[in-house]
Amino acid sequence: MLNARAAVVLDAGADPRLTDVQIREPLGDEVLVRIDAVGICHTDVSVAARFRKLPMVFGHEGAGTVVQAGQTATPRVGDQVVLTFASCGACRNCQADAPAYCERSTDLNMRGGRRDESSALHAGGAPIGAGFFGQSSFCTYAIAGSRNAVVLSEPIDPALAAPLGCSVQTGVGAVLNVLAPQPADALVVFGAGAVGLSAVMGARIAGCRTIVAVDPIAQRRTLASELGATATIDPTTSDTAAVILELTGGAAAAVDTTARPDVLAVAVGVLRERGTLALLGLGALTADLPVAAIMGKGLTVRGVVEGDSDPQTFIPRLVDLHRRGELPLDKFVSRYPFDDFDRAWAAAKAADVVKPVLITGAASS
Ligand SMILES: NC(=O)c1ccc[n+]([C@@H]2O[C@H](COP(=O)([O-])OP(=O)(O)OC[C@H]3O[C@@H](n4cnc5c(N)ncnc54)[C@H](O)[C@@H]3O)[C@@H](O)[C@H]2O)c1
Ligand SMILES: [Zn+2]
Ligand SMILES: [Zn+2]
Repeated sequence: MLNARAAVVLDAGADPRLTDVQIREPLGDEVLVRIDAVGICHTDVSVAARFRKLPMVFGHEGAGTVVQAGQTATPRVGDQVVLTFASCGACRNCQADAPAYCERSTDLNMRGGRRDESSALHAGGAPIGAGFFGQSSFCTYAIAGSRNAVVLSEPIDPALAAPLGCSVQTGVGAVLNVLAPQPADALVVFGAGAVGLSAVMGARIAGCRTIVAVDPIAQRRTLASELGATATIDPTTSDTAAVILELTGGAAAAVDTTARPDVLAVAVGVLRERGTLALLGLGALTADLPVAAIMGKGLTVRGVVEGDSDPQTFIPRLVDLHRRGELPLDKFVSRYPFDDFDRAWAAAKAADVVKPVLITGAASS
């Protein structure tokens, strides 16, 4: 058992609180990772607000250094790793190279337990849920499996590596792996948070000549322009659909990160024949969609989890894109000392910053 410090949700709906915890040794293919940096994703905020199996540690954008490896682990002690979502490796979808749709995904990512149902974390002798996305990295140490610890072959600032594990992989992956637009295609991104801005960067990498970003927050529209959007729209002051149709004549592809039913209907409405809407946002359980238009225009509306990516190959590709200057992540990462967890969490909830990243003592020293 190793002493660590974690942000623990103790009561339903409460914010995480920094607490002293103990973490066990890695077993089998697990690794014990010293967390150097961890991003806060909107999914942490929304799942924490309704999670009932408490106490629980969230956090699923950990980046760090392997300090101990289980007997069958593939990462080695000293490796720099990005932690990402967990998958079983054995089911049909994992075997078909689609680990984001692992049949055991809910168990491995959302329930908080481990494959052996034990918890990796304890406080004062009592167990704490610690398997969020197979990591629970709002902690100075985390245990992950070999499948969801991606070894980086070249060093990268941990604060920029952290969001590769979820938000960036999700936004860039949805564009490059799923929508795969051609340069002549217009692509529209609804919501310019970390996921939407990553989709904008993905569209620029794909060479799209027209990239439209929609967000009510002015600062986020400015960022979208800096990252590649050729036009931005404030939905509170514009007729979003009319402006998009005027700019694009009908978009080949759209990405929703808002999970708002009204936005989804607009997004379907701006697609041209055979266009595709990728649903990334989490939260809208149902929505009224124009079925006749979807049928008549041959549209596709599809969900995309974690950019459809195989993290073991896609995250190194993202690191390479960053090295070549094509993913200027520093433009939307805001750093906070791990001890300032409360401030970073409040900023994430209030949408004051796009991507708060907590830096532990290990990384700042
Ligand atoms: N599918 C996946 O695998 C996956 C992975 C990561 C995150 N997510 C989800 O993706 C969503 C986005 O994550 P994020 O971290 O970027 O969150 P975020 O809250 O930072 O971004 C959402 C953005 O939508 C904007 N918005 C609100 N109303 C709008 C409107 N009417 N029109 C246009 N924009 C509007 C907000 O201002 C905000 O900037 C969340 O729901 C998150 O849970 C999904
Ligand atoms: Zn699986
Ligand atoms: Zn996430």
